[in-house]
Amino acid sequence: MTDGLESVFIALDTADPLRARQLVRTLGEGPRTAGYKVGKEFFTAHGPIGTREVTDGFPLFLDLKFHDIPNTVAGAIRSSLQLHPAIVNVHASGGPSMMRAAAEAAREAAEQQQIPPPWVVAVTVLTSLDDQDLKAVGQTGPVLDQVVRLATLAQDCGLDGVVCSPREIGDLRHHCGPDFRLVVPGIRPDWAVSGDQKRTLTPREALDAGADRLVIGRPVTEARDPLEALQRLADDLA
Ligand code: C5P
Repeated sequence: MTDGLESVFIALDTADPLRARQLVRTLGEGPRTAGYKVGKEFFTAHGPIGTREVTDGFPLFLDLKFHDIPNTVAGAIRSSLQLHPAIVNVHASGGPSMMRAAAEAAREAAEQQQIPPPWVVAVTVLTSLDDQDLKAVGQTGPVLDQVVRLATLAQDCGLDGVVCSPREIGDLRHHCGPDFRLVVPGIRPDWAVSGDQKRTLTPREALDAGADRLVIGRPVTEARDPLEALQRLADDLA
């Protein structure tokens, strides 16, 4: 397991390329992180070219959460590998054939391009959904049971891990073992406001609980002095 700040991906949740570039430039002067997470907001506006311009040289977690038929997801994964991402993701609810196709496409494309294969991780149940929401879409709750069921399925399909909330780390470690990768957002240092995130853990608590990678956005990116916030984070995790 990577410990310390080098396990933290900084979430670039903006559609503004100048702001994203400025953040990467500023944070690049600080201690080393795992890299940057780019999601649908930035990618939909600026695509692979904009993403490459912003994150060039830094590891990329490409958070596009693919969910489609197996053939289409495999194609999307192959296309995304042009960016040499460290992590890509899919929705586990896309089913076993889709997840197997995603894992295989990542392996094959990485081999063809002679690059290290990315971690292919699954999103289980969106943390915005509760037991009532699951019921409304015809899924069996409670949420945690569904999370464990989908994570185990993802593991059986050859995926490297899942994105999970801090409160799911313990159960997933228990059910999926030490080698299954847990990528964890919803992290708040004790000096940061929690905002809309509920049931957070501090970075140290999340790593001690068994997280492999953390995703942290606003505590750093919205700080008055992002570089200082990054340094505080490094100190917390030292
Ligand atoms: O700013 P903050 O630290 O809350 O950012 C967390 C990042 O992780 C955001 O990009 C958010 O979309 C993402 N995320 C999350 N909770 C999930 C899945 C993803 O906060 N369950």
